[in-house]
Amino acid sequence: MEELKLRRSMLFVPGISLKMISKGTGLPADSIILDLEDAVEFAKKAEARAVVQQALKEVDFGEKEIVLRINSLDTKFAEEDLKSCLNLKIDTILLPKVNQPEDIKKLDSLIGRLAREKGIPENKTRIMAMMETPAGVLNSAPIALASPRMSGFMLGAADLTKDTRAKITESRVELLFAMSQVLYSARIAGIDAIDSPYFNIKNEKGLEEHTLQAMRLGYDGKAVIHPGQIEIVNRIFSPAPEEIERAKRIINAFETAQKEGKGVTTVGGELIEHLHVTQAQRMLKIAERTGARLQ
Ligand code: COA
Ligand code: MG
Repeated sequence: MEELKLRRSMLFVPGISLKMISKGTGLPADSIILDLEDAVEFAKKAEARAVVQQALKEVDFGEKEIVLRINSLDTKFAEEDLKSCLNLKIDTILLPKVNQPEDIKKLDSLIGRLAREKGIPENKTRIMAMMETPAGVLNSAPIALASPRMSGFMLGAADLTKDTRAKITESRVELLFAMSQVLYSARIAGIDAIDSPYFNIKNEKGLEEHTLQAMRLGYDGKAVIHPGQIEIVNRIFSPAPEEIERAKRIINAFETAQKEGKGVTTVGGELIEHLHVTQAQRMLKIAERTGARLQ
């Protein structure tokens, strides 16, 4: 099984701005997304590619996952984005407007071909798919399973609600179907589910509510678009000290119960079965990755 890598917060940075890319590397987001798509106007695509190339050469990204968002496959930009920027440093390609499994298969073979041409180890580059069209959401299960490179979904609420004609509300009742469908498909394939960005960068309370909602639905992280959003999102997707304590109690109590020949026990009056131990172990693994004290 692949090592568990955290994607609590994935920071979008416009590919056109070397200053913002450099700033982004010093911020505590788990992943940095160098965006060649929506954040870059059509006339500036070539310029943005050059900036990203320069950043990949000159900027130290530390331990961060480096994600490149290319333009969608139905534009004339996608192949050139990949050709000019795919290199050893890029961990993941984020593909927007994915509608069907064939889109992922096409990207998979394009990455394979370009990686061979450039001498990049072929199986290294991963794919994440934006879920931001009605077709993408409805086809999300076969999309999730379309390639071994698939490593996650990211919900794109702005583009999706443009197509569905929904209005984004604080409760996000209009997005619940898509959020759940995308999450279930991610789980079938064992890949990450990352929530859409929250677009009002001044509203911390709203960001917190949407992030809590995504976390409770089972999401692994959330996209962010501004430095001020990172800490709130990281906190919500990191196990709290009392959750860590409870996870340890569950594991200990279950071990004791097993020694006594029992398959169930209680902690704080609540029934504990093997499934809770699995959840607790996963939580401790996430906590360890966040640098939390476990002893
Ligand atoms: N990544 C890195 N740095 C960022 C950043 C980001 N996404 N957003 C803002 N910053 C920096 C600014 O450059 C500024 O740096 P400085 O203090 O060194 O000059 C600092 O953070 C404070 O920014 P602020 O003035 O509050 O915001 P802004 O008006 O400069 O930018 C946005 C606001 C929304 C334009 C900007 O956050 C942005 O471009 N976000 C990404 C949008 C995007 O990628 N969209 C596509 C995906 S949905
Ligand atoms: Mg978009």
